[in-house]
Amino acid sequence: MPSKERMLITGGNALEGEVRVSGGKNTAVAVIPATLLSDEPCTIENLPDIEDVRALVDILRSLGAKVTYVPGEFMTVDPRPVEMQEVGYRLCQRLRASYYLLGALLGRSGRAEVYYPGGCEIGSRPVDQHLKGFRALGAQTEEVGGRITVEAKELKGGDVFFDMVTVGATINVMLAAAKAQGTTIIYNAAKEPHIVDLANFLNSMGAKVKGAGTDVIRIRGQQYLHGANYAVIPDQIETGTLMIAAAATHGDVVIHGCIPTHMEALTAKLLEMGVRVSDSDDAIRVRSMGGHRAVNIKTQVYPGFPTDLQQPMSALLTTARGTSIVQETIFEQRFKHLDEIRRMGARVRVADRMAIIEGVPQLYGAPVTATDLRAGAALIVAGLMAKGVTEIYEPKYIDRGYDHIEEKLRSLGATISREREE
Ligand code: UD1
Repeated sequence: MPSKERMLITGGNALEGEVRVSGGKNTAVAVIPATLLSDEPCTIENLPDIEDVRALVDILRSLGAKVTYVPGEFMTVDPRPVEMQEVGYRLCQRLRASYYLLGALLGRSGRAEVYYPGGCEIGSRPVDQHLKGFRALGAQTEEVGGRITVEAKELKGGDVFFDMVTVGATINVMLAAAKAQGTTIIYNAAKEPHIVDLANFLNSMGAKVKGAGTDVIRIRGQQYLHGANYAVIPDQIETGTLMIAAAATHGDVVIHGCIPTHMEALTAKLLEMGVRVSDSDDAIRVRSMGGHRAVNIKTQVYPGFPTDLQQPMSALLTTARGTSIVQETIFEQRFKHLDEIRRMGARVRVADRMAIIEGVPQLYGAPVTATDLRAGAALIVAGLMAKGVTEIYEPKYIDRGYDHIEEKLRSLGATISREREE
């Protein structure tokens, strides 16, 4: 059902000042289910205050875990009372990462029953590689009535060869393998920063994970994992969105608490466009005087240009001088935001997985609709650049993954608010 909320942005203000980035969404949604593998309570810090995290709290509680969650501070999960192995349909629909309950429960108790996940509609997003990985560990898998059941009498380490690089399947197999008997080797593994962060969390509980961050990961399963205190890494995509917003408004913003080396693909493109980017240990400064040049983008697995930043970046390119070609190689339906930004005056042609963007001097505010999380971020970028008022419908998608984004942008000088329609 469409929600009655809308976000209102009056564009044209240059963003200026300093802002702190929140903890990583994609790390949080892997680390929280991973607490189920522990035989003792775990405390996680630096979690972003977002809808996906709230949904996972509800899932863990539904399984019987004792969860204390103070948003913005910490989450403690005591998984010892958990006896359930099934996650209900409605809970699974609330986020894509509900599929990590498959790996986490399989590792914990040898069985999991989870519905096909909800989350953003950006392509078909199958789970065949996840299931193939579980089967390599000796599990039986079954898909009936929209429900996936995985079960293993004895979960045993094995060799897993992925047909493509997949973040979700790499994480899911790491979760199950942490408690399997013997060693699992994942070939063609994803190398994203949150894979490394999950490995660090598992190792802090006593797991033996080596090679995370390369394309071969070795996991020696452990019978007992102890409790741990862990802080998740900063959000790479929120950092990138703020960098793009700073450039888009011809602003001058320092983003604190980020990891500049995670941002190299974006930084390189912004520099190519004529934006000034500098960094120190844990901060990035983005300055722009405008006059951006068009650039070509091709999304790739890490360390290539992230698909999650393709959408906000292509919003920025709608006003760059010249023609930009954006190729989306990871998900097949990730250009819906461009249909919306066209209403604001952008000149864009989409052909299959390629968008050809001819830069225009100015976007104009219009009513637009967010169709997924990063499409919402792209519309925010477009709204900040546009002349006049942009109304963004369905901001609930943005709440899945951005922690207090309106407050953060307002603190930098943006005119942005939210209204409930009567
Ligand atoms: C994760 C991220 C998402 C990001 C994406 C790519 C989380 C919660 N989400 O999504 O923000 O955009 O990585 O960096 O971390 N595929 C299959 N079969 C499978 C699994 C994947 O064909 O079993 C395909 C997908 O359709 C897609 C590609 O592999 O074309 C990559 O998907 P994957 O890396 O798994 O993305 P997600 O884990 O869904």
